[in-house]
Amino acid sequence: MSKIRLGVNIDHVATVRNARGESYPSPLRAALLAQKSGADSVTIHLREDRRHINELDLKQIKSKLKIPLNLEIAATKEMLNIALKRKPPFICIVPEKRQEITTEGGLNLKYRRSFLKNVIDKLKKNNSRISLFVEPNVHDIADAKNLNADCVEIHTGKFCNLINKKKNYKNELLKIQKAVDLGNKLDLEVHAGHGLTYKSAKILSKIKGIKEFNIGHFLIGESIFSGLNRTIKEFKRNIK
Ligand code: PXP
Repeated sequence: MSKIRLGVNIDHVATVRNARGESYPSPLRAALLAQKSGADSVTIHLREDRRHINELDLKQIKSKLKIPLNLEIAATKEMLNIALKRKPPFICIVPEKRQEITTEGGLNLKYRRSFLKNVIDKLKKNNSRISLFVEPNVHDIADAKNLNADCVEIHTGKFCNLINKKKNYKNELLKIQKAVDLGNKLDLEVHAGHGLTYKSAKILSKIKGIKEFNIGHFLIGESIFSGLNRTIKEFKRNIK
């Protein structure tokens, strides 16, 4: 058993489905197979443009999954209402820009702050665990605590890019380490995600204090060659 939990993001199963407007491959089937293969939670990002997961996926996965569902949403009125209705056990609030290919950075916690605080309060009252997706920066970690979040998810995109390009990643790793340490000190549960591969997840798993990884793109891509079951097991081996 790994000490660090693995959240499997299945958005890109829906991306492949949507590329043809078909009903397959099924995100629900992927969610249930991820569960069977040892995932600790399943993550889906309901985007404003519904480019991958849609509300029917959310409804079906929420009703069938036994492990926690982690719903990623932007802090908007529409997403707040959907999350209040569906009551996922875990919610991660992320920034969202229409033109971006993926979630490019952490939240700006100053932007529409009172609305963000209101979203967090309402979702917490609705019994969802709230995580904020932030840059590895101590100010944002402290601010997440002020906003009464339960968890922070540290955006690891820059760190992963440096590793992929075989560049020096030591400074970025140090930033992540400092952010994790402060999060733990403030009693926030610390997660990490974005761009993670076997290699980058393994390096980060050596940092004490990260409780959960959320991994999608590389994991789903690798599953084409090895299958979801073997890929999840290999990730779990790498982060234990
Ligand atoms: N965590 C968060 C908050 C994300 O927005 C994403 C991307 O949707 C991920 C983790 C997973 O990133 P990747 O697909 O690059 O593994």
